[in-house]
Amino acid sequence: MPPTNLTFREPLQTAARHALAHIENLDALPVAATASLETLRARLARPLADDGAPPEQVIEDLVSDSAGGIVASAGGRFYSWVIGGSVPAALAADWLTSAWDQNAGLYAAGPAAALVEEIAGEWLKELLGIPAGASFAFVTGCQMAHVTCLAAARHAVLERRGWDVEARGLCGAPAIRLLASRERHGSVKRAVRLLGMGSDNLIGLDTDDQGRLDPQALERALATAPAAADPAADSNADHTTPTIVVLQAGELNTGVFDPFEQLIPIARRYNAWVHIDGAFGLWANASPRFRHLCAGAGAADSWATDGHKWLNVPYDCGYAFVADPHAQRAAMSYQASYWVFERAAREQIDWNPEWSRRARGFATYAAIRQLGRTGIAGTVERCCDCARALTLGLGRLHGAEVLWEPVINQGLVRFLDPSGQSHDRRTDEVIAAILASGEAFFGGVTWRGMRAMRISVCNWMTSEGDVERVIRAVELAMDTGG
Ligand SMILES: Cc1ncc(COP(=O)(O)O)c(C=O)c1O
Repeated sequence: MPPTNLTFREPLQTAARHALAHIENLDALPVAATASLETLRARLARPLADDGAPPEQVIEDLVSDSAGGIVASAGGRFYSWVIGGSVPAALAADWLTSAWDQNAGLYAAGPAAALVEEIAGEWLKELLGIPAGASFAFVTGCQMAHVTCLAAARHAVLERRGWDVEARGLCGAPAIRLLASRERHGSVKRAVRLLGMGSDNLIGLDTDDQGRLDPQALERALATAPAAADPAADSNADHTTPTIVVLQAGELNTGVFDPFEQLIPIARRYNAWVHIDGAFGLWANASPRFRHLCAGAGAADSWATDGHKWLNVPYDCGYAFVADPHAQRAAMSYQASYWVFERAAREQIDWNPEWSRRARGFATYAAIRQLGRTGIAGTVERCCDCARALTLGLGRLHGAEVLWEPVINQGLVRFLDPSGQSHDRRTDEVIAAILASGEAFFGGVTWRGMRAMRISVCNWMTSEGDVERVIRAVELAMDTGG
């Protein structure tokens, strides 16, 4: 039987029914997975069949076979990693994105997708305090946003040395030096590796006692650089060492911000490119209460952030911004004779690393329209308030200790071993007991030589009620499991 339009109705309705059952039940669901790896594998690893199955049956089976293997991170009691949920308009737009199935590589393959992305990109620049003239790309996450931005940076710093990296590659090119704080996120190193710049060239600089990159350490590193003259380079070129400085808005564990107003002018004096990792922290700019933490960030050359964290759009969604569109376009653009180009439109292939791609702009556009400026500021502020209440509330429990009071939405606590033998072991045991209770999901980290429980609040649904409920649950887990 040939497929008809009706073929879609049952599987989509089945999926919608199950999706609603999940979302509407988030308050009651255990947050961590309850099924073991073996159980999930035994259910899901069916032999590859010769004959297909009816689509609604495939969906029913997927739901029942995955039971216990879905982490309830879409709800308000997940605090382990910086993972947001989905605001309703963004989730609904994301469903439509799949139904419409646009290839958002070119305007011609999805005109509305291209336009929505263009408009949402302009809104994002306003919200995040990025100069209006910056170019941008919607990518899978902050990891690929780093790759996109650092590809533009690589182009620019080598172009200044008269080296065309897109044509000539990195073999024989002047070495690029990368400076970042020791507290940088691991995705920066991966981006450097992927771009062939070599992780050995990424130098970790000292921070102050708050974990912020120390301006004196940056100045010293820049000043002691070899001002290498490269015989291969154009004689008119700039002969300073090609340098990229990576700064951070929102450190993974503490949420601290590098002092951009001090650091960026220093980097400028040495003609360095400045990139900011603002995976979640850049969203502080959307809140009048927290905007001061981003002061000076608008003077950088590139910025990477996420939609799937604080904007609460479904996975996956990240954004790359570059102040000089020429550099981004030179690193990314491609033209093929079999394509159709619309001169008046924004062609995503000019800015993005992908060829074919998902129309990610729809979910972002919908989230921003649903929330508006006030709603986005409110989400940021509510998450920060909940992170603070949760951290301080846990710290008041007998046998718990606050290690880091949130600056924004990140806190750290640990649990003390009554025998005084191993606070680290006690901390891991309490975390395991909380996970087993199903009441909340926290993760551990080794921070300044101590095991700590991370508290990241990034979900638009987290409420004061969740905070109170989770503090009670942690108290119980300390008594019973830990
Ligand atoms: C500071 C920071 N940078 C980069 C990333 C990587 O982001 P993504 O997982 O969206 O690629 C994260 C993820 O949590 C992060 O916290």
